[in-house]
Amino acid sequence: MSPELVCFNPDCPERYAIDAVLYQCPKCGGLLEAQYDFAGVSPAKLTALWDARRLSREPLDVSGVWRYREMLPFIEDTAHIVTLQEGNTPLLDARRAAEYAGFDAIQFKHQGYNPSGSFKDNGMTAGVAQARRLGMKRVACVSTGNTSASMAAYAAAGDLQAVIFLPHGKIAYGKLAQALEYGALTIQVEANFDQILALVRRLTEELGIYLLNSINPFRIEGQKTIAIELLDQRGWKVPDWIVLPGGNLGNVSALGKGLRELKQIGVIDRLPKLAVVQAAGAAPFFQLFESDADGEIENVEAPETLATAIRIGAPVSWEKARHEIRTSGGIVESVTEQEIADAKAVIGRCGIGCEPASAASLAGAKKLRAKGVIPQDADVVGVLTGHLLKDPDYVYHYHTGQLATPGGEKIESTFGNQPVVMPNDPGKIAAFLQSRE
Ligand code: F0G
Repeated sequence: MSPELVCFNPDCPERYAIDAVLYQCPKCGGLLEAQYDFAGVSPAKLTALWDARRLSREPLDVSGVWRYREMLPFIEDTAHIVTLQEGNTPLLDARRAAEYAGFDAIQFKHQGYNPSGSFKDNGMTAGVAQARRLGMKRVACVSTGNTSASMAAYAAAGDLQAVIFLPHGKIAYGKLAQALEYGALTIQVEANFDQILALVRRLTEELGIYLLNSINPFRIEGQKTIAIELLDQRGWKVPDWIVLPGGNLGNVSALGKGLRELKQIGVIDRLPKLAVVQAAGAAPFFQLFESDADGEIENVEAPETLATAIRIGAPVSWEKARHEIRTSGGIVESVTEQEIADAKAVIGRCGIGCEPASAASLAGAKKLRAKGVIPQDADVVGVLTGHLLKDPDYVYHYHTGQLATPGGEKIESTFGNQPVVMPNDPGKIAAFLQSRE
């Protein structure tokens, strides 16, 4: 079987060519998934090949996505690939974070070390490769900021025009700055992410622009390498839990697919449980699992959270995400603004740092520990999705006691670190330093 796009709806048998410009099944509207024939692939040979590539200087071998290209065989001609050396993100031990959440240990897979500072780069290199393979000249997305920063970077590197739609006034400054610097045509729309996505889907179809939101199945293909690299870094030792934030739910869908495929090939023999964490003000997927997990998701009309990256009320990939949560025996949790803010500061105190949405992973892990869902001695990996410097305003406001929820409630700066202003007086400064020893 050559690579194909397959309808994700279990009741729909439709399959499409891998180079069809489709984001949803034309027959039933279901999401699409790339599928491959991995029969006969030797897990030992595969992992030996990936190990050998770590000695190579070839750009595609150096990429933390394309190093694993046997898992992404939709690209036939590697000349279409644009790499910025994405992936290769560290897996970090975080003692203070473990203590804070009540675990013996916790590791963070920090996707903020990517070229544009978020996990989106893993997916974007794959999505842009497909765009170029299809001969597209323009690519577009709506974004809470990271997808747009990433798409702008890869489009610039790959000579495509990037058209970016953003919810006006609702994205962190660092992310907007990136889109401008990478040269994207940037349109700020006075609507929220979900509303703009509906608009962009219409416009891209009418104008023949390639859509690079995570509804695009090739974005998911790239992002699944986050799970592959994570397992590779652990010598294929499967953790008990992987905890990650959820917004549009592309990332959990991607990680789940990557893990299933590794198991199918025999590289791993069991699946880690996946835990998705949403911000309480934007938690339709959490609500679904709280009510009738077999039912339909109910969108949140006016999602609100200071973690603007996950301010999404109508997650596109919820059916894929539900499948991955269930297949892995996982769970969905929600956390408050205060819990996110404090967890974020603790991650900072580990010398690691992350943007607000990313900290939902630690906040959620702490909550699941407290509920007894995850045991103290569990082997837990949290995914940190974006870099600390994506949202400096949030950081400054937290540490100076000026952060408030979207509803206007004060957020306590539990782990605040207020800068001190002093006169240019060595005596006074010395006295101050002695008082703080
Ligand atoms: N964390 C960060 C930092 C994000 O930017 C996003 C999504 C998520 C988590 C959630 O991932 O949507 O796959 O469940 N950001 C998108 C964007 C929506 O436009 O950049 P998800």
